[in-house]
Amino acid sequence: MSQSISATRLATLAGDFARSPAYVGLADALRELIGDGRIGYDTRLPSERDLTAALGVSRTTVTRAYAVLRESGFAEARHGSGTFTRLPGGPTRAYDRALWPTDVTPGVIDLVCAAATAPPGIAAAYAEAATELPAYLGGHGYYPAGLPDLQAVIASSYDERGLPTVPEQIIVTAGALAASAVVGCALAGPRDRVLMESPTYPNAVQALRTGGGRLVSIPLDPEGWDLDAVAGVLAKRRPRLVHLMPDHHNPTGLVMSDEERATYARLLARHDGIAVVDEAHHSLRLDGGAAERPFASYSPDAVTVGSASKSVWGGLRLGWIRAPRGLVDRLTRARIGLDLGAPVFEQLVLTKLLAGDFDAVLTAHRDRLRQQRDALVAAMEAQLPDWTFRRPSGGMALWCRLPATGATALVDEVERRGVLMAPGPSFAPEGGLDRYLRFPYTVPVPQLEEAVTRLAEAWAVVRSGTTTPPGRERQGGVLVA
Ligand SMILES: Cc1ncc(COP(=O)(O)O)c(C=O)c1O
Repeated sequence: MSQSISATRLATLAGDFARSPAYVGLADALRELIGDGRIGYDTRLPSERDLTAALGVSRTTVTRAYAVLRESGFAEARHGSGTFTRLPGGPTRAYDRALWPTDVTPGVIDLVCAAATAPPGIAAAYAEAATELPAYLGGHGYYPAGLPDLQAVIASSYDERGLPTVPEQIIVTAGALAASAVVGCALAGPRDRVLMESPTYPNAVQALRTGGGRLVSIPLDPEGWDLDAVAGVLAKRRPRLVHLMPDHHNPTGLVMSDEERATYARLLARHDGIAVVDEAHHSLRLDGGAAERPFASYSPDAVTVGSASKSVWGGLRLGWIRAPRGLVDRLTRARIGLDLGAPVFEQLVLTKLLAGDFDAVLTAHRDRLRQQRDALVAAMEAQLPDWTFRRPSGGMALWCRLPATGATALVDEVERRGVLMAPGPSFAPEGGLDRYLRFPYTVPVPQLEEAVTRLAEAWAVVRSGTTTPPGRERQGGVLVA
């Protein structure tokens, strides 16, 4: 059944829209609200008369704004029942704020999933691990905390970073996302609040709320953390868990300074919050320089989540939790309620890689990402000079600010040209950010350059207010009739 939104509520959400001319400003504001999910798909909009009164504008302004919405695919009038919200790409564009890796057809450039192909040397590690597997086949194969050798080598990677860790503090999981689900299940029940940043890595929102925790979000400025705002939210909302990505935050690429880590940790201690530190991207430091200390070295209660997906390969499906000793039992018990351990073979592969010349693997990986990042930055500056972004010092993506709202419509338009991307609202746990687009530099340079060309074409179409007529979609990079 369709929902409806009152004129007063809509007037509050639309806020102080641009008035030159007013109908364009109002249409833009409504497109943003519909595009980023703050007004849901198939919601009945207020009557023109009610909205005119609530906004204090002329009736023509509202009539013309609704007409613009209908023409651009953001609304549909149903005879006798009113005007309902739509999205240019149909209901599948009503973002559920989770990124779905897809199997794309050849020629389509997939930039939804920010994940690179495996660096050299991975197949050899699999082959070597196969020779060790027979030794495990006589046992039951269940290792709820992980293979002891892998726990040990992961623990020593924290020692090397200046965070003393014993193997018993490590729980190996099937990826960092599964690790976050374990943490959410163990530490945040229905009475607890879970603080997420906006933007954030969307799949973590769902994972950390596995135990029923309630979502609270805090804006993260593209320029950095506002620790006064953090202090305010911690004091007022008292979240039990606070999700952080201090090392190459996804999607902004931000890195938290040591000073900020120390302050953040003090605030958490004062308000009994536990940091869940997602370090999935921490090894993707592309510009050298001394690394910051791990967040957990400032915050002994923090639970850290790690992943082999970004440093090695997503197909390994391995991650881990590094927990304070006092929480290990509780986390292991929660883990057993979800699964009984990660696959032995993949754990052997990762053990080989981490215990071998892992720096060589990382160096090859980083060199490739650095080259791709620099090529993407150059292509964006050349073809979309009025877009802005910070050049990230690591991680896998540019977080781009568009000169106007419209990322949702843009993603639909560029998909017709064979490029799949995730718009800002996908990264906003409670809506917003339709002025942003994440652009991962995880594919080879020619594909990145082609994607920028198609993006610039699509953006020109979106800005002109026209969209590609049905039946003229591009497939595999070719415009088909
Ligand atoms: C910040 C962050 N955390 C976790 C994950 C998921 O990691 P995994 O593949 O280990 O489950 C990702 C993947 O994109 C990520 O970006």
